[in-house]
Amino acid sequence: MSPRRIPAATDAVERRETPLTITVDGEPVSGIEGQSIAGILLASGRRAWRSGRSGAPRGVFCGIGACFDCLVTVGPERDVRACRRRARDGDEVRTQARGGGGSEL
Ligand code: FES
Repeated sequence: MSPRRIPAATDAVERRETPLTITVDGEPVSGIEGQSIAGILLASGRRAWRSGRSGAPRGVFCGIGACFDCLVTVGPERDVRACRRRARDGDEVRTQARGGGGSEL
């Protein structure tokens, strides 16, 4: 899946997609270099990957780093805003619940 509307073969500036793979709760998920972790999660069909205090599902709300609804754990680092973190090949992403240790959605 590509976030671009211009096919690479006809791209006038000759951008090329570099594929990458992250894991989300241990499941491999493909993306392309330059995508945010939230972008990869959304492109894979996930709409929510965290739960709030009430138990309501949370994913991307603002998309600009202001609301903290999209928090994930990346490697050893908790509370990473998925909309602000550019994915790197091999990132190990874990979903998390409010106050929980992860993988609770
Ligand atoms: S969606 Fe609001 S901080 Fe990421």
